[in-house]
Amino acid sequence: MLRAVIISPDTELGDRLAELIARAGRVGLAKSIDRYLVSHELERFLRANAPQVVFLGIQNLGDAMEVVRQVEEFMPGLQVVAIDRGCDPATLLDLMRNGVREFLAYPFDMASFMGAVERLEEMVDKQPAVYDTTDMVVSFLPAKAGVGTSTIALNTAIALSRITERNVLLSDLDLNSGLIGFMLKLDNVYTIYEAAENCDKLDEHIWPQLVASQDKLDVLPAGRLDPQSRIEPVQIRKLIAFARRFYSALCLDLSGNMEKFSLEVMQESKRIFLVCTPEIPSLHLARQKFQLLSNMDLGDRVAVLLNRSQNRSIITPAQVEQLLGVPVFMEFPNEYKGVHQALTAGQGVEPATELGKQFAHLSYYILDKTPPTKTGKGKKKFLEYFTVPRYTMSPQK
Ligand SMILES: Nc1ncnc2c1ncn2[C@@H]1O[C@H](COP(=O)(O)OP(=O)(O)O)[C@@H](O)[C@H]1O
Ligand SMILES: [Mg+2]
Repeated sequence: MLRAVIISPDTELGDRLAELIARAGRVGLAKSIDRYLVSHELERFLRANAPQVVFLGIQNLGDAMEVVRQVEEFMPGLQVVAIDRGCDPATLLDLMRNGVREFLAYPFDMASFMGAVERLEEMVDKQPAVYDTTDMVVSFLPAKAGVGTSTIALNTAIALSRITERNVLLSDLDLNSGLIGFMLKLDNVYTIYEAAENCDKLDEHIWPQLVASQDKLDVLPAGRLDPQSRIEPVQIRKLIAFARRFYSALCLDLSGNMEKFSLEVMQESKRIFLVCTPEIPSLHLARQKFQLLSNMDLGDRVAVLLNRSQNRSIITPAQVEQLLGVPVFMEFPNEYKGVHQALTAGQGVEPATELGKQFAHLSYYILDKTPPTKTGKGKKKFLEYFTVPRYTMSPQK
């Protein structure tokens, strides 16, 4: 079914068309608005509703033409159908020249509407509108609670937001012990629950109210403790699909309890960062989780992050690899003081510290970019990971 929006300052025209659309049953109407939108407002509206067809009232021809021009700029290939009360041949010609393919005159009749829909379906088939959505969805999975997953997720998301064009979303999906809101001293009114409950109604107005923004990082915290509340896999799938259209990257912080919705999150993720520490219980559970993910055909997305790694650790990274049967992708030093200071200040770890630098490195790898180095020589990219030695810490002084 074609997905459509109506933009018509002539509200009666918009309403009549909406009725016709409902009666015909061949087109799904995502949204109808009664004013012309421009620039980022129009872009946000299109991203939020992802239409294949825009029915555009041309009562004010100049403004309508600007919408047509910008639609072509933001979403090339998106079909525009002009609607109006009259039909002036010169105006029609002008519209066609600007890429408008169809025209419907009021009073609308079902036969011409269905004819237009058939032609539109054919065109959409041949040339679908392209919404650039991000595939940079990464999840952070603790081998065991307390290994430092939220710390890594938060700081990596902050580091990512410093180098991406659009904002980055960090969503806390640890429903029982979510700490992200606390770690950033946020006082969000809404949480992941409201986002999930409204997953069918999300739009460019609701979304900014749900998230808290700090510079280019948007955060959706876990919020209140509520044993009655749950999140369904389908809700999380819709949420991710919506957010993919707005953000450069999505970072999803999981509890490690392997809830159904968590499995859905990992299915949606390009990378799954399995976080562990060099301790027997954490490694035992990391191994179990890796096996479970491998059985779900997700093994090749997993990259192991070894947190609180110490050069004098009893268990060496090489032993960790042997135990897990997978290479350690990156190590993060044990820097209690730095982490504590960040927590007290309600912000990320100082970027200049060893730990801070590792978060920055990880963010470059996620984007498959080469981290800048002092010598100008780049490190290997993420995709080359499986063929390169582990990225280790620099030796302790
Ligand atoms: N690299 C690190 N060095 C020192 N302390 C850390 C480090 N990473 C995390 N921590 C601390 O470990 C504790 C658990 O971290 P958290 O991120 O909440 O873990 P998880 O999300 O896996 O349960 C917190 O007190 C945090 O400050
Ligand atoms: Mg956590």
